[in-house]
Amino acid sequence: MTKTCVITGGCGFIGSFLVRKMVQEGWNVRVVDNMLRGDSSRIADLSNDIELFDCDIRHVNSLNKAFHKADVVFHLAAVNGTENFYQHPELVLDVGLRGMLAVTDACYQSNVTNLVVASSAEVYQTPENVPTNEQVSLTLPNSLNPRYSYGGSKIVSELIAFNYKRDFFEKIQVFRPHNVYGPNMGFKHVIPQFILRALECKKSNHLSFPIQGTGDETRAFAYVNDVVDGIYTMYQKGAHREIYHIGNDEEVSIKDLVRLIGKALDIHLEIECTDTLEGSTHRRCPDILKMQHLSYNPKINLKRGLTLTLPWYEQNLSRDVVNQLI
Ligand SMILES: NC(=O)c1ccc[n+]([C@@H]2O[C@H](COP(=O)([O-])OP(=O)(O)OC[C@H]3O[C@@H](n4cnc5c(N)ncnc54)[C@H](O)[C@@H]3O)[C@@H](O)[C@H]2O)c1
Repeated sequence: MTKTCVITGGCGFIGSFLVRKMVQEGWNVRVVDNMLRGDSSRIADLSNDIELFDCDIRHVNSLNKAFHKADVVFHLAAVNGTENFYQHPELVLDVGLRGMLAVTDACYQSNVTNLVVASSAEVYQTPENVPTNEQVSLTLPNSLNPRYSYGGSKIVSELIAFNYKRDFFEKIQVFRPHNVYGPNMGFKHVIPQFILRALECKKSNHLSFPIQGTGDETRAFAYVNDVVDGIYTMYQKGAHREIYHIGNDEEVSIKDLVRLIGKALDIHLEIECTDTLEGSTHRRCPDILKMQHLSYNPKINLKRGLTLTLPWYEQNLSRDVVNQLI
């Protein structure tokens, strides 16, 4: 019998790629999204293959209809975007915490015994070890800094996942994605912002390129198709009550990221360093050994991923003006 999954945040960036993946794998797919940052046009071509529930994850009653007789819920809905952590911490917390409780309650009420929860690399803030494995301690450095509304809500979401309705779930898993990128990911993350800035530089022939920090900070970026393959592999092969890093361990400095974007556009950008945002972390790179033990490896390196991402931004520059609500 065809299995049914629910994807909360399925009109968001990663969610929409996961919807596509699950349809390709032959699942019935139900999408729950209130379009706060989502855009149903991302999955418009799949409208005959999926059911869309335009509702808020904080409301258990509206979730029950979407969750009815589902085999698994992939819970991805959240208020993402670094600017939002600083500007809308109350909403980040409300959706993160009330949403996680409501999703868990709705699983319980609708007897959905499999739940997969999206956490984040932000639960480590400044990790003790890099590359970071799943055992490294989670930290919330300063409750006065609104930035940690997001990391804090992910830490508590993990606690809820593993300890609230603890004996009900047959399979409950948490994944921590690390810096996901790809086409149509909005305009508020580092890669799209750099691409837009670089396109502007190319157009105006003014090549000075301001960045926050020294440029020696590192990140490891994961292409979105690799990420949804990872989520699927983890669900199929991974164990109950486990946490997995989903990412790419190709660590690059921010300066090198700028150079790669410049190269892809055939321009030489001149980097100018400015102040770092308080709370920003110096190095981030996941250890992905645990996923590799499930025979998973990301396939797309940063150079290739950027060439797959750039054309969408070149073609959709004007959408930045329309912008997301938040
Ligand atoms: N993109 C990344 O690099 C990254 C890294 C780490 C973790 N994550 C996590 O992965 C998940 C997906 O991230 P994304 O980048 O696709 O984010 P996104 O903002 O593109 O998607 C989130 C979706 O959730 C929806 N949503 C928000 N509040 C809602 C509510 N109250 N009810 C229903 N829907 C609501 C939004 O409309 C949006 O479509 C999130 O949980 C995020 O925290 C993402």
